[in-house]
Amino acid sequence: MRQNSDSCFSFCSNRCNSLWINGYPTHMKNSQSISLHNVSLKNSQRKIIKFQNAIIQEKYLVVDDRYINLENLQLKRYNVKKAEGQISNIQYLNISNNLDSLEIFGPELQIDQIYNYLKLYTIQQQFEDNYQIIKILGKGSFAKVYKVKKIQVNLQLQDKQEYTYASKVFNKIKLRQNQEENELSLWKEIEIMRLMKNKHIIKLFEVFEDEKKIYLLLDFLQGRDLLSHIYNNNNVYDETLVLKLMHNVLNGLSYIHSQNIIHRDIKPENLILKQKNNIEDIILADFGLADFYNPNGDYLFKRCGSIGYIAPEMLNNEKYDYKVDVYSLGTVFFLLLTGQQAFEGQSSQEIFTKNQKGKVDFKLLDQTNISQAAKDLCMKMLKQNPLERISIDEALNHPWLQRRKQNLQVDSFKIIKKPTIVRGLKDIIRCNTPLWINKSLKSITDSSDNLDYLTFNVRDQTIQDFIDEEVQIQQRGSNNYDLEDDTIEEDKMPSYNVNRHFPLVKQKSFP
Ligand SMILES: Nc1ncnc2c1ncn2[C@@H]1O[C@H](COP(=O)(O)OP(=O)(O)O)[C@@H](O)[C@H]1O
Ligand SMILES: [Mg+2]
Repeated sequence: MRQNSDSCFSFCSNRCNSLWINGYPTHMKNSQSISLHNVSLKNSQRKIIKFQNAIIQEKYLVVDDRYINLENLQLKRYNVKKAEGQISNIQYLNISNNLDSLEIFGPELQIDQIYNYLKLYTIQQQFEDNYQIIKILGKGSFAKVYKVKKIQVNLQLQDKQEYTYASKVFNKIKLRQNQEENELSLWKEIEIMRLMKNKHIIKLFEVFEDEKKIYLLLDFLQGRDLLSHIYNNNNVYDETLVLKLMHNVLNGLSYIHSQNIIHRDIKPENLILKQKNNIEDIILADFGLADFYNPNGDYLFKRCGSIGYIAPEMLNNEKYDYKVDVYSLGTVFFLLLTGQQAFEGQSSQEIFTKNQKGKVDFKLLDQTNISQAAKDLCMKMLKQNPLERISIDEALNHPWLQRRKQNLQVDSFKIIKKPTIVRGLKDIIRCNTPLWINKSLKSITDSSDNLDYLTFNVRDQTIQDFIDEEVQIQQRGSNNYDLEDDTIEEDKMPSYNVNRHFPLVKQKSFP
């Protein structure tokens, strides 16, 4: 039985197997490495380990002919006070898993450098000793994101902008509701974020865990997410702006795909502005549903995303690939050009059904101040059939994107905030998966400064619930059963199962 205080990473393979692996890591790319010179190593029996060469490269610490995979191991740093008369400060780092540990110690300068490298791959404790929470920036399905400030030991460095971060905080109580799946999902999110090294993509710096929470330290993006920006009445768009934004997001997405990763949750809430009111400078965030592309369709979550932005082939349980991200970005593009969601409705079920059919009202693109080229690209990104849908590389070479180099003369337009859009939170209340947050229904109208209008992402079971519900709605609509059938079936049904309006149809279709 797991204890509440157990680490969410206890069952990671790296924590359960021996620390040292013989040989040399095979998957290492030609990336930057640091050499462990001037430092000493001690094993868990506190015996000095003799070595000739030691380097850290990507997630591996390689010492002569054996190595450690650092992923999700525990990292501790000890600051040992300088003794009087001593020339340099000796500092200690301790890396451990459930079975073994390694100590690295040496002069402060070297240990600083090694620590800065290790902290991306490992898990630390004592978040609160290192960071101070300033305010909430956003929330999603599992996590809340806060602006935080690094607590500086060196007072002279205080108040510098670069010491402000965002922290995505996961509450362990929520993760425990479906523990195995949620932990695997969290490990994957962290694993993928560690790989992301691109200026259009959110950067992860370090990970902390304490008894109650897990903290991912990220770049602080000052500009809020694109949806908040779109629904701020004062913002005016023109095609040039949208063009620059799309160019940056497409480049970010192209990078993600080049690492064999599918994002699977591209939506305006996950595109965050680096600076206030500069929508071109946009960052792709939230790798909570991302996964490594698998041609056999084997994923932790097979069908997932956010209702209203998901590629139809995924909702229809077909095999899919990187093109699902093109589709989702197409829906964002459509919103930017028209001010309307590609799939709108009064409930998430209604939005889901439209999304599954993938029929977008392209007539909305016929505004006079949208160029033919923009319209053409948008339609190509939203092609229902993934084989006909434009790829990221083709999109980057599309004539509209090529106009970036020219000075576009275009009218500006305002995205009209539609008071009737309800992003389906009502239906969410009924769902019993931990993903759904029980909140009251709010329309977008009163949300300029609160966060309640955001869509929540969904995974397999919830998507199936929507599909089942849709089947039932259609059957209710068809109304082709006769009264005789009703009487027969009604007798057989336990009374608590009898739904006044449509029980018998349900009974027939699910024998
Ligand atoms: N690095 C960041 N800087 C500023 N705001 C952020 C940052 N990361 C996330 N946010 C805000 O928090 C929201 C939720 O973060 P996200 O990573 O999407 O979490 P979830 O997986 O729960 O959806 C985002 O929509 C955005 O508004
Ligand atoms: Mg999100």
